[in-house]
Amino acid sequence: MLPSYTRPIVSVEPPGPKAREIIEKHEKLIATTTHDPKNLPLVIERGEGVWLVDVDGNVYLDFSSGISVANLGYPTHPEVKKAVLEQLEKIAHAAGTDFYNPYQVMLAEKLASIAPGDFSKKVFFSNSGTESIEAAVKLVKNSRNRHIFLAFIGAFHGRTMGSLSFTASKPVHKKRYFPTMPGVVHVPYPNPYRNPWHIDGYENPDELVNRVIEYIEYWIFGHFIDPGEVGAIVFEPIQGEGGYVVPPINFFTELEKLAEKYGIVLIDDEVQMGLGRTGKMFAIEHFKIEPDIIALAKALGGGVMPIGATIFNSQLNFLEPGAHSNTFGGHALASVAALRTVEIVEEILPEIAKLEKVLREELLELKNKYEVVGDVRGLGLAWAIEFVKDRRTKTYNTAVRNRVLLEALRRGLVLLGCGKSTIRIIPPLIITEEQIKIGLEILSEAIREAV
Ligand SMILES: Cc1ncc(COP(=O)(O)O)c(C=O)c1O
Repeated sequence: MLPSYTRPIVSVEPPGPKAREIIEKHEKLIATTTHDPKNLPLVIERGEGVWLVDVDGNVYLDFSSGISVANLGYPTHPEVKKAVLEQLEKIAHAAGTDFYNPYQVMLAEKLASIAPGDFSKKVFFSNSGTESIEAAVKLVKNSRNRHIFLAFIGAFHGRTMGSLSFTASKPVHKKRYFPTMPGVVHVPYPNPYRNPWHIDGYENPDELVNRVIEYIEYWIFGHFIDPGEVGAIVFEPIQGEGGYVVPPINFFTELEKLAEKYGIVLIDDEVQMGLGRTGKMFAIEHFKIEPDIIALAKALGGGVMPIGATIFNSQLNFLEPGAHSNTFGGHALASVAALRTVEIVEEILPEIAKLEKVLREELLELKNKYEVVGDVRGLGLAWAIEFVKDRRTKTYNTAVRNRVLLEALRRGLVLLGCGKSTIRIIPPLIITEEQIKIGLEILSEAIREAV
């Protein structure tokens, strides 16, 4: 069935009466997570393609994809729905870590065949992004017996106590939770727009990359950590929660050289940027390296099933049964949904380059138009605009960012923030050029209203 909406329809100011009722109950009953009812009072009832409908009947165009989960739109792609319904007639939970089933094997075969690297691979299945990182870290510890890790400032890798040790995008994530897992050392990410050396990384990408590599090798390895004890470097190919930061194109080849020199494993966290979001199946393909471990989750379940996957070089396997496992890994229904999702992403990948062009051009227009837009960056359908008080000092303009989010919502466009003063633009990958233009028109109006 084709989506029936062509434009957002906001006939009741959000939050409408039904939304207010649910928000009130939610606040009473549900643990505090990341909601802020003042900022984004959206109560979702259903979704159709790229459209979200709230409980008061307002229709919104979605530029958030549930943080890159609904890459195939809402409620999901019809083919994924069909595969899930067929599988439900057979079995959903087949105790995939105790017994064998063909569904997880088919998915693993697919993931191993598409992941970069001409080496044999295995997969560990879980339910979420944080678990796919936990598995990657435990895999390195278990198989290599090295227990120091490097991660990057600005990173987000999850919130359970292991992956939280790697997360470094907002102090609130770790506040009151120290001590986290020992042995994680953070280094600067090559952020072209903001970095400790004030290098303009768009003008001088090589200088920025050299500084980061030098920082690791000369300062960290040279002064307080023996690189022979470093198990892995954990990174996002594009930082997500930290502000959609795209590093210089040669950064990862330099990082790979360094890792090879010291026998260090590379863990590529593709939880947010993987599965077509950047126009490639894996975002790291833009940077032409072959990580030893890749973590996936979010979009993998086609927006219908929670699933995480840690794809790894089979030389790194866990040493004995029981060294790591879980209950839902290899879930039959999740595996079937994921396999069909990956196949559909493969089919729609060529469209993303065309859509990227539209987004890029229109967002750069916004930068020309509004002084508060300090930076525009992205790849594929993963874009961001960063708001500043002053383009020279680059002072974060969080107040304007928050107003833009709200003004956009009131006009029927759903957006999410990231970083300190950034908005991410991540529509479902099935969006059309026309729908992108409608959304960006609303975004432009929202900025005009907010400044
Ligand atoms: C890059 C990255 N890694 C890991 C995670 C954690 O995923 P989850 O929330 O499913 O645990 C996230 C979540 O936003 C993420 O963006």
